[in-house]
Parts: sequence; structure tokens; C-alpha cells
Amino acid sequence: MPDIVILGSGNVASHFAKALKNAEINVKQIFGRNIRSVSALAKQINCSHTINITDIIQDADIYFFIMNDEANISICDKIKIKKDSILAHTAGSLSIEIFKNKTRNYGVFYPFQTFTKYVETDFSKVPICIEGSNHETYLELEKIAKRLNCPTFNIDASKREIVHLSGVFASNFMNHCVNIAEDILSENDISSDIIKPLLEQSFFKILNNNAADSQTGPAIRSDNLTIKKHKELIKNNKQYSQVYEVLTNSIKSKFKIK
Ligand SMILES: NC(=O)c1ccc[n+]([C@@H]2O[C@H](COP(=O)([O-])OP(=O)(O)OC[C@H]3O[C@@H](n4cnc5c(N)ncnc54)[C@H](OP(=O)(O)O)[C@@H]3O)[C@@H](O)[C@H]2O)c1
Repeated sequence: MPDIVILGSGNVASHFAKALKNAEINVKQIFGRNIRSVSALAKQINCSHTINITDIIQDADIYFFIMNDEANISICDKIKIKKDSILAHTAGSLSIEIFKNKTRNYGVFYPFQTFTKYVETDFSKVPICIEGSNHETYLELEKIAKRLNCPTFNIDASKREIVHLSGVFASNFMNHCVNIAEDILSENDISSDIIKPLLEQSFFKILNNNAADSQTGPAIRSDNLTIKKHKELIKNNKQYSQVYEVLTNSIKSKFKIK
């Protein structure tokens, strides 16, 4: 198995580094800018760490860039590596080409899951979308994913963007809607726990059938009196009102409701 350097110590880097360690893959070093999180992660993985770009180990086999887009690009410009190392990032919508001036071996290892640092994640259930600048690089990245027991997908840049976009709708926007629901409940002194069985059942229905067949609510029923009441309740909050309007119209249009 290759020697690995991880750049970043945030949500994905933390989960990925621990999964590599559990699979007995050698993480040689963690690089980042925040000494506290970098050293804490390195301690858990039992590897070295640095916050200086010039101290990044130069002879690792694979470098995983797990920072935000800007940092991935700027650190890639500055890093010094041996000739045939592989550089890979984990981003949904960042081009593989950010690495092209550095090495001929580069790729993407995009884990299609939502990661939060301190929330447990079973990495073996995470689909990994892989792209490689050449077949050997693809196989090396696939080898890592397979060692972690992850399902793998050969996905090129344009398809990866689509996968990412679908994730934004399915996870990020859904999460934001639940966040609004929690805020509305708490603003009205109602425990947000009341919503948990509804969330469980909604996901049960989606996972066991599909979202289109699971849609309920005033928009699909065309209950315009209820919609009017809801709008009245949130009329002083422009943000809630806009989200309610957009999603109600989207459901009506999808199901051709007048
Ligand atoms: N989170 C997810 O659910 C998810 C899922 C799939 C893919 N991804 C992708 O994975 C990558 C990382 O996402 P994330 O959620 O793990 O982000 P994150 O938690 O915000 O972590 C980003 C890391 O990059 C570091 N960083 C930022 N700017 C830096 C710089 N100039 N120099 C050095 N280090 C720098 C941050 O340091 P600080 O701690 O100092 O901020 C942090 O350790 C992104 O490409 C994202 O698109 C994320």
C-alpha cells in the first residue's frame, strides 16, 4: 500500500485519515494551517504533522488535498513532491486539472457523503467517485477505496459535477429546510424533538420507495387556504417566506398543480 500525506484537518480529512489508519494504510503526515486540529489529528493517526509547506514530506506516493478549493489550488502551486507522486483532491466540483502542471499522475477521490468532524461515519458505506489522469493513477486510487471497502464509481468531471449537484439538493438543501423548521419551532417555544419521527418516516419512505411517490403536504394537495395561512405566519421573515414560496411553486410545477 502507498505512503500517504493528507493536506487538511477538517471534516473529510479527519474521517478519511482515520479510515486509512483503520485499514492499515500508512499515513505519513498531516499538513494544515491550524496547529491544534492538525496535531490532534496526527496524534490519533500516530503520524507526523506540519503547518509549514516547506516541511511537507516530498517522497510520499499519494497526496490527498482535502482543503477548500482555493487552498487546494494555492498549496498545489507551492508544494514540492517527487516526480511520480499522485496528487488527488476530494472535491465535487473542482477540476482535476489543478494538478496538471505538477505531475502527470493526478486524480479525484470524491466521497459522496456528508461529513462532520465529530459525527461518526461508516466510511465503508461511502461511495467514492474516482477520476484519474491516466489508467495507473485511477487504479491506485481505486485500490485505496477498495481497501476501505467503499463502493467505487468511475466518474468523469462532468458527471461528478452532476453527482455533487444532486447531493446539494438531497442533503444540503434538505438540511437547511430542517434547520428552518427547527428555528420556527424554537421561536415558538416548541421542542424541536417533535420533528424527529417525521424526519425518520420521511427518510424511510424515500429510501424504501422514492421521493416523487412520497410527496405529501399542502402544495401537492393544492390546499391553497393552508398555504395562505402558512405564508401569513411567516410574513415577517423574508427568508422563510422566499424559501416557502420557491419550494411550494416547485412542488406544484412538478406535479402540475394549479
Ligand atoms: N464535508 C463534506 O461533507 C464533504 C463531502 C465530500 C467532499 N468534500 C470536499 O472535501 C474538501 C474538504 O471539505 P471539508 O468539509 O473537510 O472542509 P473543512 O472541514 O472546512 O476543512 C478544510 C480544511 O482545509 C484547511 N485549510 C483551509 N484553507 C487552508 C490554507 N490556506 N492552508 C492550509 N489549510 C487550509 C482548513 O483549516 P482550518 O481548520 O484552519 O480552517 C481545514 O483543515 C472540500 O474539497 C469539499 O468539497 C466535503
